[in-house]
Amino acid sequence: MRAMTVTPGKADSAKLGEVAEPPEDDGSVLVEGLFTGICGTDIELVSGLFGTGRPGSDHLVIGHESLGRVLEAPAGSGFSPGDLVAGVVRRPDPEPCAACARGEWDFCRNGLYTERGIKEMDGYGAERWRVDPYFAVPVPAALGHLGVLVEPTSILTKAWEQVDRVGARSWYGPEQVLITGAGPIGLLAALIATQRGYGVHVLDRVVDGPKPELVRALGGTYLTDLQQLSVVPDVVIEATGVGQVVFDCAQLLPPAGVMCLAGIHPGPATIDVQLDALVRQLVVRNAALVGTVNAGKRHYADAVDVLGAADRSWLERLITRTVPLSDWPSALVREPDDIKVVVDLRG
Ligand code: BGC
Repeated sequence: MRAMTVTPGKADSAKLGEVAEPPEDDGSVLVEGLFTGICGTDIELVSGLFGTGRPGSDHLVIGHESLGRVLEAPAGSGFSPGDLVAGVVRRPDPEPCAACARGEWDFCRNGLYTERGIKEMDGYGAERWRVDPYFAVPVPAALGHLGVLVEPTSILTKAWEQVDRVGARSWYGPEQVLITGAGPIGLLAALIATQRGYGVHVLDRVVDGPKPELVRALGGTYLTDLQQLSVVPDVVIEATGVGQVVFDCAQLLPPAGVMCLAGIHPGPATIDVQLDALVRQLVVRNAALVGTVNAGKRHYADAVDVLGAADRSWLERLITRTVPLSDWPSALVREPDDIKVVVDLRG
């Protein structure tokens, strides 16, 4: 069958690969791949920066943002042929560590976890894939192709949960939220902030294209310079990973403010900063910086709820380009107005 393959560790090795049918070991639910989303992690995989294949394999099927349709599912699995489904990315480490043993693989302590399409497991960028029902997320038929947004949204439902948990260390009543980066992660963070009734302010470099309008459609303020921010942000969701942006925003945190770091930047970059002054400010304000990666099972279910409650036409505008599997490497070449690019696995 056809699949999106790379040679791990080798730059520019992305190609339309011909691979074996998915092994039964991957799980009892057989799925027809419909769409997979491309994100910064895929770009890094393709540049050979990281990524490992299945043990003994010289290639890796990438694609961790998934949507498929069930072809076969055993009785009692909770799935039936025709159901839409998304796959969970991470699997617990084999030991397992204390966090993985409790189902918190997104907080794996020993780093021995595996990830579909990223680390030691083939991904979902193939015409067919298999998944264990426990790691399969039911996607309501009404979401249709927008179900491909479940995985990236799960990153934000987890991020917001982290913010809530840190925030709850004292009285917590955020009103204003600053989001840095208006890519898919920033925009989905803004969507959730809007659903929670917060004032939303999104910072990005671009001045035109679909991003400003998407932010305004949520009722948010679009900024191209931090100086334009007219409120004190109780919460910052940082989705650029750019050191200078992180530094500048951390200084804005009020007492008990929370900043969640949800993005990474390829870097390396060096900036000259007065870190001791920032540390003093964070300390005397009880301000918190918290990093977040990946998502647990409940975050996927929360993501389905977020998408279900969103304006469908707004979500549709997030997907700015759909590329057929036959030409999938073109999805990796950024175009000016790209937000979320998806690969149509039947094309
Ligand atoms: C995925 C996460 C994953 C991370 C690091 C992200 O793009 O959404 O699930 O843990 O990459 O591999």
